[in-house]
Amino acid sequence: MRRFSGEEDGYIYSRWENPTFKPAEEIIAALETFKLKDESGNNVQAKAILHASGMAALSCLFQTNLKTGDAVLSHFSLYGGTHEYLHKILDQNGIKPVIADLRDLNIAEAAIKRNKNIRLIHLETPANPTIQCVDIEGITKLAKQHGLIVSVDNTFATPYLQQPFKYGVDFVAHSTTKFLNGHGTAIGGVLVGRDVHFMKTKATKWHRLLGGNTNAFDAFLLLNGIKTLELRMERHCSNAASVADFLQQHAAVAKVNYNGLASHPDYAVAKKQMKHPGAMLSFELKEGINAGKNFIDKLRLCTRAVSLGTADTLVSHPASMSHYGVSKDERLQFGITDGLIRMSVGLENIEDILTDLDNALQ
Ligand SMILES: Cc1ncc(COP(=O)(O)O)c(C=O)c1O
Repeated sequence: MRRFSGEEDGYIYSRWENPTFKPAEEIIAALETFKLKDESGNNVQAKAILHASGMAALSCLFQTNLKTGDAVLSHFSLYGGTHEYLHKILDQNGIKPVIADLRDLNIAEAAIKRNKNIRLIHLETPANPTIQCVDIEGITKLAKQHGLIVSVDNTFATPYLQQPFKYGVDFVAHSTTKFLNGHGTAIGGVLVGRDVHFMKTKATKWHRLLGGNTNAFDAFLLLNGIKTLELRMERHCSNAASVADFLQQHAAVAKVNYNGLASHPDYAVAKKQMKHPGAMLSFELKEGINAGKNFIDKLRLCTRAVSLGTADTLVSHPASMSHYGVSKDERLQFGITDGLIRMSVGLENIEDILTDLDNALQ
């Protein structure tokens, strides 16, 4: 009774809490708030809740903060599943998704003023698969002037490269399936909130009742992977920068989207808010979709697969894979052309990756 009433801490049932979830939650909350101070000079506090997947963490975020009649403002080029969730699940529950190019603060402000029901702004930066970046600080300032909640999907960056709480956002979410686990060995997600009371009460209650809990073995794999986050991110990023340079100079390549290239439209924003540009990039071949298929089929080291953030370099075709559920019109609006190829650059020896790409581009 003491445990059920909250009078005494302790484990009751693994849908609620578990001794292997807890250290993973504490480590992620510590990484997301590392060295951050609030307006009064105190250490920023946050609480994390592990989930069965990134989508479970995001659905807990939206369901705990939004109700029928509200609207959520977000931007182009979200992960396909998040885009579908906003349009198919929230919309059906009377919560309107409003999509605008939030890289332009004037457009963001106009959207907020036009729609008085907006309650939450959800950012994904860098975003799938064109590596667009949104100015977290600029959007958060604007949101706070209008009393809105801000959440950031920090999956592509990880707290090692980017700490959204630095700019006063309310929530950070991750698919831990990706760089935090780092080895592609478990599906998982996490929701981190700065309002510790909210996280311990409403978010905890919702999480338990929605049933999107993880399991002890996946939490153990996450804990193992996270030990090498810094080492892996350094190697991922230096490999990705070399791949981007290589592709940009290759005669068969029409365009490279990588936020570490000065030619990327969001280069300056990425430089401001990220330690390094990251490990994700996408590109188009001059000869279009057929050349793209040929290229992917000829790869020997890099793996054709969805997902990202694993030790292995993964190559995917968003139009037929991660964004298959998004209509062609919408895809083209986001810059996801039929010929776009996405890469999550892995930890292999860089000469091996470049040789594989070079052979496949012949
Ligand atoms: C940026 C981003 N957020 C969320 C998700 C969903 O995560 P999960 O597949 O763990 O549910 C993904 C999956 O690819 C993603 O890329």
